[in-house]
Amino acid sequence: MEFSVKSGSPEKQRMSCIVVGVFDSRKLSPSAQILDDASDGLISNLIRRGELEGLLDQDLLLHNVPNTLCDRILLLGCGKEKELDVNNFRKINAQMARILDQRGATEAFSCLTELHVKNRDIDWKIRQSIEAIEEQLYRFDQLKSDKQNTRRPLRKVVFSVSSRRDLPIGELAVRQSSAIISGIKLSKDLANMPGNICTPSYLAEQARSLGKTYRNFEVEILEESDMEKLEMGALLSVSRGSRESAKLITMKYSGAASAAEKPVVFVGKGVTFDSGGISLKPGAAMDEMKYDMCGAAGVFGAMSAIAELQLPINVVAIVPATENMPDGLATKPGDIVTSMSGTTIEILNTDAEGRLILCDALTYSQKFNPDVVIDIATLTGACVIALGGHPAGLFGNHNPLINDLLNAGKYSGDRCWHMPTWPEYKQQLKSNFADLANIGGREAGSITAAVFLAQFTKKYNWAHLDIAGVAWKGGANKGSTGRPVPLLMQYILNRIEESANN
Ligand code: BES
Ligand code: MN
Ligand code: ZN
Repeated sequence: MEFSVKSGSPEKQRMSCIVVGVFDSRKLSPSAQILDDASDGLISNLIRRGELEGLLDQDLLLHNVPNTLCDRILLLGCGKEKELDVNNFRKINAQMARILDQRGATEAFSCLTELHVKNRDIDWKIRQSIEAIEEQLYRFDQLKSDKQNTRRPLRKVVFSVSSRRDLPIGELAVRQSSAIISGIKLSKDLANMPGNICTPSYLAEQARSLGKTYRNFEVEILEESDMEKLEMGALLSVSRGSRESAKLITMKYSGAASAAEKPVVFVGKGVTFDSGGISLKPGAAMDEMKYDMCGAAGVFGAMSAIAELQLPINVVAIVPATENMPDGLATKPGDIVTSMSGTTIEILNTDAEGRLILCDALTYSQKFNPDVVIDIATLTGACVIALGGHPAGLFGNHNPLINDLLNAGKYSGDRCWHMPTWPEYKQQLKSNFADLANIGGREAGSITAAVFLAQFTKKYNWAHLDIAGVAWKGGANKGSTGRPVPLLMQYILNRIEESANN
């Protein structure tokens, strides 16, 4: 899809479609009013006759409206003007994309950017529009024989901005969003790819190919023999039961003016299939455990967007990639392993494998002298119970970092919610035979998982995002959401802007 921005009156746009909003009850948006005036009241006449109330989900497609240069006008119901919020704004844009794509309008001039959304500026509206349009039109059909392509798909959307003064802001928004949506797409494709194709080696190949595509981008893949030398006993204990060998993937993007600038380090859980291991999961929806690499997928997406934009920042991504499978060599409940940090861990449940691979990756990340480390993981079912599918769980040991992530979540719409990691919870991880147990009982499961990780992150500023509830949707619309790429990208963009202002 091609996106751009333009200022100018809607009736003067030579386009296959102009898109304007109508509020409940029958109130025209400014651009709808201009088109109505130009066409001697054609729109208001239709509305008076009951064609459109302005409710959300309503639409009306008009053809050959007099005194306009476009083929069609799409009127979209926007609900009550005062209630137009962040979510409805996205919904209206998604609906626009769906209708245009189905109805053969290959290009559109969207005036939806003029609608007032509380506390949101034109940058935000353009970026959200682009994300919503792409989200609506995304399909994962690489493995289907019948692709069901639309005959005349939507190819181009031009966003209206109120004056020429807004063009630079709009153009920057388009440029940034274009990179972010390709990152989201990469993240979704990797996540939706089945576990028999998307293996640890496959992820390693993907990293290598990003390294070939982008400037300032280095990739290093560690094999199990390397991990043995580094004494990553926790990570290796998870891959023991699998025929696929684990990979520790490091991607290093160096965009800052100084190579010495401390990097942001992302660590993404890359369990390409989580069967639970010897503590085997029940069968229902087990296929969805191919999504247990969504932390890794999010990190890949963010890295590709950062490198695409060649942002002035240093970022390192570390992805421990492995399967969690049961077999004769697999780790057993009760086994005790020694992590890279030297801490011994009693594995009471082999299904709590995420924290085992992350703890070694987190110890490993110290060598990059990080400014902050953010790990991203589909870590616990308990997080889904606590927060549902709306925010990711956010944990950490550094309040400024926590606040930066909360703010980035609020602006991008890819939200997270702060949870405690108080020392009281550590008691739940007591083991009779080792330094730590890998599970903490039924209570506060997402917190005890985070507190487990916290034992390995004492030397730097750290945050943990538990994305178990937000990374994919189950049911009829099963699929990856591409989260938290928008959140990570907003965090990075805000960080760059802040350092430019200081
Ligand atoms: N990958 C799962 C977490 C998960 C489960 C995410 C369901 C999304 C949906 C993780 O490896 C896991 O199995 N966690 C266990 C931990 C438990 C054994 C302490 C869980 O959440 O049940
Ligand atoms: Mn598990
Ligand atoms: Zn898992």
